[in-house]
Amino acid sequence: MKFFVDTADVDAIRELNDLGMVDGVTTNPSLIMKSGRDIKEVTAEICAMVDGPVSAETVATDADGMIAEGRELAKIADNITVKVPLTWAGLKACKTLTDEGRMVNVTLCFSANQALLAAKAGATFISPFIGRLDDLNIDGMDLIQEIRTIYDNYGYETQILAASIRSPNHMKDAALIGADVATAPPGVIKAMANHVLTDKGLDAFLKDWASTGQSIL
Ligand code: E4P
Repeated sequence: MKFFVDTADVDAIRELNDLGMVDGVTTNPSLIMKSGRDIKEVTAEICAMVDGPVSAETVATDADGMIAEGRELAKIADNITVKVPLTWAGLKACKTLTDEGRMVNVTLCFSANQALLAAKAGATFISPFIGRLDDLNIDGMDLIQEIRTIYDNYGYETQILAASIRSPNHMKDAALIGADVATAPPGVIKAMANHVLTDKGLDAFLKDWASTGQSIL
């Protein structure tokens, strides 16, 4: 499973990228707001740092507006993926932009039928939002499973990008189901390294080692 980082915080992206953990980045208008930076400036910086796809989201609500914004965002760098919402207008924009050879991420997906439409419109990525479904007491992971089954039934090449990930368990479950990509905040990716028994075991080893009075260097 590929790891995308869901942030516009360049320092956080750099730390993970230096460890080889970053296959791409996703941003959205809220994350750009949180960064406090200009969208084109911060996106260009991210695109220069990361080899993989970097999603930049349109904000128009009509297809022509999304297409115009998508073309503008795509000028930032070759690895830009234009992000459009899963509305009828977004599907039209997706079709036009993918026909032009651009990568498109269709976002705000909350049902298998929406994902089916995005695949028909040629989306490069579909972004089902797990956490926001879980918030409503609907199992977001069931949606990932449904989309996986439908795409595999018909050989759709659209990649499932599990989004709105809130915990390391979401990462594990998405990987078990076979999501192509998961996008997560930097803190969630780092938390995947944590285990209480690792901490406890290390503690015990260090105490025993100290009692030997030895040093390796
Ligand atoms: C994905 O592309 C979105 O930017 C993101 O995953 C949304 O996550 P949230 O529901 O935690 O805001």
